[in-house]
Parts: sequence; structure tokens; C-alpha cells
Amino acid sequence: MSSIINKKPDNATGEKQGMIDLFSRTISYLRVSVTDQCNLRCLYCTPREISEKLACSELLRYEELLRIIKITVGMGIRKVRITGGEPLVRRDIISFIERLTVIDGLDDIRITTNGIMLPQYAKQLYNCGIRKLNISLDTLRPKRYKQITGRDYFHRVWQGINLAEELGFAPLKINMVAMRHINDDELLDFGRLAMDRDIQVRFIEFMPIGRDTAWEKEKYIPTVEMIERLTELGDLRPISATNIDGPARIYRFAGSRGSLGFISPISHKFCDRCNRLRLTSHGSLRPCLLIDEETDIKQLIRSGAADDDIRRAIALTILKKPESHALPADGSGNCHGRMSRIGG
Ligand code: 5AD
Ligand code: SF4
Repeated sequence: MSSIINKKPDNATGEKQGMIDLFSRTISYLRVSVTDQCNLRCLYCTPREISEKLACSELLRYEELLRIIKITVGMGIRKVRITGGEPLVRRDIISFIERLTVIDGLDDIRITTNGIMLPQYAKQLYNCGIRKLNISLDTLRPKRYKQITGRDYFHRVWQGINLAEELGFAPLKINMVAMRHINDDELLDFGRLAMDRDIQVRFIEFMPIGRDTAWEKEKYIPTVEMIERLTELGDLRPISATNIDGPARIYRFAGSRGSLGFISPISHKFCDRCNRLRLTSHGSLRPCLLIDEETDIKQLIRSGAADDDIRRAIALTILKKPESHALPADGSGNCHGRMSRIGG
């Protein structure tokens, strides 16, 4: 294990640099799915008729989550993203997030949400110190929103986005999964949104993940086509990506308030820069979103494992990070895990 944990101090305060995998990538980012439940049924994520859900006992309890997160922070994790399902539907989520914010060494906590509960929770999240939100919104048309998500909540999400902007969440990002014949006629509307408001719109390639979703090759739009279509609005210039931009390549229209991010898991794999590890809602560590390989941490914890055993399991999981995923754009991908359990 010690071979992958870099013990050299890497800054003036002597903090450890983090965990390094077999391909020299430093793993510093943990994505945590706190629930498989969601108040939407997005057609790219959850099959409409899904009714099975994890029993409460299958979810990691908050104490267990905090213990694992603390251990990973001790090993070099610097950034944690809370996802789901929809994280804000889990009971007492705000007090969990409050406890997360006081973990020593963890200064970067972000949340991915569908925004429905933001009118209710945005202020409390802000007061806990959360500033970075990604909100999923694939259409600006209320009727279409219902077609894509199965629920009639557009106005609540929109209200949530406005409130988050007013409160001062920054960066405020909107995730838009671009799908041909479903919402691609709104690419320019989303581009205008990024021009007019201090928001980063993230255009995401539709990925074939999970069983029984609406994925079809014809619906997939490569980033280059999105960029080409968006240039109709003006000159799109790349701005230099810093490491906090993760896999997104960031562009801006001259004079615009916000920016555009392009996430291209299929056309431009970003595996060589992958710095992440995922903790699923059922308590497994997953080295890669797109490969169905997991380590059961929940079972380990519940059988009385000491922190050192957990550290060892985390380190071994990191050693299993593949060099890259093998997801082809023709839908024959090998990831069957459900996105709402793994964490979007
Ligand atoms: N393809 C692309 N992005 C997806 N997400 C979920 N499922 C998919 C998919 N099949 C992303 C969306 C959503 C977030 C929660 O996860 O960006 O906003
Ligand atoms: Fe819910 Fe997110 Fe999946 Fe949509 S993509 S159903 S909001 S978990």
C-alpha cells in the first residue's frame, strides 16, 4: 500500500500529496452518492418503471460515510462531490453536509443536484459554507422538461437556479446532456444563457450507462458537433482549463458573462487526467464510472474493520483503476451499473 501513497510533503504546510495510481495519476477527488433515490426519472438515467430501491440498511449511514470520507481525506482526497440519485432527498442531508464541512483538510465540497429542492435548501446549504453547485437541467422548456424527466418540476428548478445565483453560489454550473431529436434544438438557447448570466453551462455527451435507458447511437452528439453548432452565436474561444475544471474543456463567447464547458467522455476520453474515486450509495468504492469493478467497503466496515483495513482496501481499489475505459460510441458499452446508484 505504501507504494501508492506519496508521503513526500508537497507544500509548505507539509500536507501529503495524495494517492498515486499505476498510471501516475494522483487521486484527490471523491464522488459520494448518498442515495439511489431520486424525485425524477430522467430518460438517460433511470428507466421509467423502476420501482426497486435500496433498503435503508443497504445505504451507508451518515456516520459510516463520514468515517470513510475522513479516512480518504487523510490519504490525500481534497475535493468531495455529493451526488445521488438526488442527494437532497435523503433525510437530514443538511446536518450531514454540516458535519462534512468541518472535516479537517477538506476545503472543497461540491454538490450535484437536480435543483428541485433548492428553493427549500439553498439558503441552508449556503450557510453551511457550500458554494459550488452543479444543477442538472436539460431543457429550458417546461413541457419538454416533463418529457425528459417524467415530472412537472421545471419551475421549481428554475426558481432554485435563480435563488442560488442570488445567494452567491459560484461557480454555478448547469449540466445539459445533449441528445439528438430530444433537446439539441436548444443548444443555442443554452449558449445564450451562458452569455447572459454568470453560469457555466456544461454540455455533456450522452453516455450509454445502465440498462433500459433511452440511449441510442442516433441520439449521441459528439462535442465537436455541439461546438460547431454553437459558433452560430459568435466566436467561441477556449479558456485555459485549470485542474478544478476536471474533465471539462471550457470556452467563452467574447463579452459573455458565463462560460461553456464541454464534457466528452466518448469522443475525447479524459481518462489520462482522471483523479477520481467513487463511493456508491450501496457502500462500494468504484475506481471507474464506466467499468463494473467495485470494492465492498460497507461489508468491511460492518464487520468491524479498523481504519487501517479500510485504508488498505481504498489503496487496493486505486490500484485497480484502469488506464482508460473502453466505452465505444456504438452503445456496446460494458457499464451496467445504474447511474443513480453509482452517482452521476
Ligand atoms: N449520459 C451523460 N450524462 C449523464 N448523467 C447521468 N446519466 C447520464 C448519461 N447517460 C449526468 C447528467 C446529470 C448528472 C446527475 O449525471 O449530467 O446531470
Ligand atoms: Fe435523478 Fe439525476 Fe438520474 Fe435524473 S439523472 S433521474 S435527476 S439521478
